[in-house]
Order: sequence, then C-alpha cells, then structure tokens
Amino acid sequence: MKRIAVLTSGGDAPGMNAAIRAVLNQGMHHGLEVYGVYHGFQGLVEGDLRLLTVNDVHHQIKLGGTLLHSARYPEFKERKNQERAIEQLKKQKIDGLIVIGGDGSFQGALSLTKLGFPAIGIPGTIDNDIPGTEYTIGFDSAVTVALDAIDKISDTAASHERTFVIEVMGRHAGDIAIWAGVAAGADAIIIPEESFDMEQVAYTVRAGRRSGKDYSLIILAEGAMAVDEFVAEFKEHVPEQSVRGVALSHIQRGGAPTARDRVFATSMGAKAVDLLLEGQAGVYLGINEERVSIFDIVETLEKNEHKVREDLYKLNLELTDRDL
Ligand code: F6P
Repeated sequence: MKRIAVLTSGGDAPGMNAAIRAVLNQGMHHGLEVYGVYHGFQGLVEGDLRLLTVNDVHHQIKLGGTLLHSARYPEFKERKNQERAIEQLKKQKIDGLIVIGGDGSFQGALSLTKLGFPAIGIPGTIDNDIPGTEYTIGFDSAVTVALDAIDKISDTAASHERTFVIEVMGRHAGDIAIWAGVAAGADAIIIPEESFDMEQVAYTVRAGRRSGKDYSLIILAEGAMAVDEFVAEFKEHVPEQSVRGVALSHIQRGGAPTARDRVFATSMGAKAVDLLLEGQAGVYLGINEERVSIFDIVETLEKNEHKVREDLYKLNLELTDRDL
C-alpha cells in the first residue's frame, strides 16, 4: 500500500480536522501518500481529490468544521456511484480509504469494502448515536457549546423568573440532551428514548419553584419534539408561568474541539491508517472504556442499537423529584 485517501461525510463535527491531521501524519510516518477527498462521497464520485501536504493540516487541530468539507449524499447507496467512486480511487492509484462520519457514512465505507475496496470508518458526529462505540468525535464539543449557551440562558431566566425550554440537537438520540441537562442542573430532560407526561414535567417545574428556585430549565432533545410545539403544550399546564423556548441549532456544531475530542480523533485517525496497512477493512473504530477499539460494521450496525446513558437520565429524575 502506497497511497490512501480520507474523506468526511454527513454533518460536520468538531474534531474532524484533528482526525484528518492524524491520518496524514501517521500516513507520512509509514511512508504513504495521503489524498484528501473533498465534499464527502459526492466528491469521491466526482473525482474531487488531491494529495494532502503538512501545510493543509497545519493549525487545523484546533479548528471546528472540516477542512475537506462535507456533504450529505444519499445517492451513494446506488451501486453505479459506488463503482464510479472505486474507479476514481483506482485512477489515482489509491489502495485504501478512511471515512470520517456517522453510521450512514459507514454504510458507504462498507459498500466499497464489499466491492473489494478496503475502507475503514471513524465515528464523527455530534449526536453520539453510533451503535457499539461509547463515543463519537464532536460529541464532547457539542455538549460543551450547548452547556455554555444554557448557562447564559439561565442568567436571564433567573432575572425574569422564567421557565426556558431549550432544544438541543441529536437527531434521533438524546445523548446531548442528557449530558447537557445533567451538567446544567436541568429540572427536566426530554429525550426520544423515554416517554414523558407533560403534567408530570409541569409538576416537577412547579415543585422546583415552590422549593425556592427562581427559574426552571427543560432540556429538550430535537428527536423528542420541536420546541415550539412543546412550549405551546407546556404553557397550558403552567398558565401562571412565563415560558420561553429556544432552539440552539447549528451553533452546537461549531467552535474549537475540546481536548477530549482532539485526543480521541487523533488516536482514531492514526489507528485507522495502521489498520489499513494491516489489511483490515469493513471495520470502524470507536471508544470502549476510554480506549480505541475495533468494531465490525456489519455485526455492530446491523445487530445493535445505540443506547443512551439511562443511568444519567434516571439520576436527573431522582435529583428533581420533590414532593412539595
Ligand atoms: O447529525 C448531526 C446533526 O447536527 C443532527 O444533530 C441534526 O439533526 C442534523 O445534523 C442537522 O442536519 P443539517 O445540518 O443537514 O440540517
């Protein structure tokens, strides 16, 4: 193996640049040439790739976003596009591909492997929703950004003695809501994985106020309900309160990656290169008990479901359970 390539796909995530840097530097350490594919799988099909140099990744470890740009490209499910991608890679004499993205991106990597082209996945998504791995690149940064915003909102919430419903991202997963909610001391955390009763949420908020709190925070995962809808319904249960809703939206995908995201991204980027050189394919890297581990794409994605940290969710219920 003399040449490999790397691409980022799906929603960008802070730490992707750290992973790209590690792929290039580890590749060079092993005497490889590393190509960057621009604009994800779409760019791959269109032949949008070029040789990376140290200058491309210099200073990038601390930047959010992805220097390779990203794209959502569902058309990659089509066999003709997968074959075209392999043609583009072979034209440049590239022998292996590293895909940084979510589980949809891993399916793309798997389809190439099934057609005989070795590809390895690295989990890059703020949602932390990939089965198998405990952690995805960008999650810690997104939670940090969300928490910072929630803390700021709590200042104004306290001044006006308001209840704020704050919608966070996560697609179908409640991980960002749980972590940001526990860290913010939220009165309630609403996630798609757990059913909830609006009157019970209202009861918890009222009990908090009766116990002396001057504001309340409800952290709502986008996969559970849209914030406007939630606020409209919630207001009917607490007509005495001033309630506001806010969706944090894409600011959660921006900003400098945290140290945790940079370290895991760097470890997984380097390991992905080592795996390609060992002749592995059809696998992705993840984190298990704080260490980089290897997961089989078919085994893990098709047979497992992502699980949220139920223990943290329950902990928050216990900490806000006031019988007043
Ligand atoms: O997967 C990352 C994510 O930010 C999700 O949390 C969110 O639902 C989605 O992407 C938003 O996608 P887009 O940026 O394409 O609107």
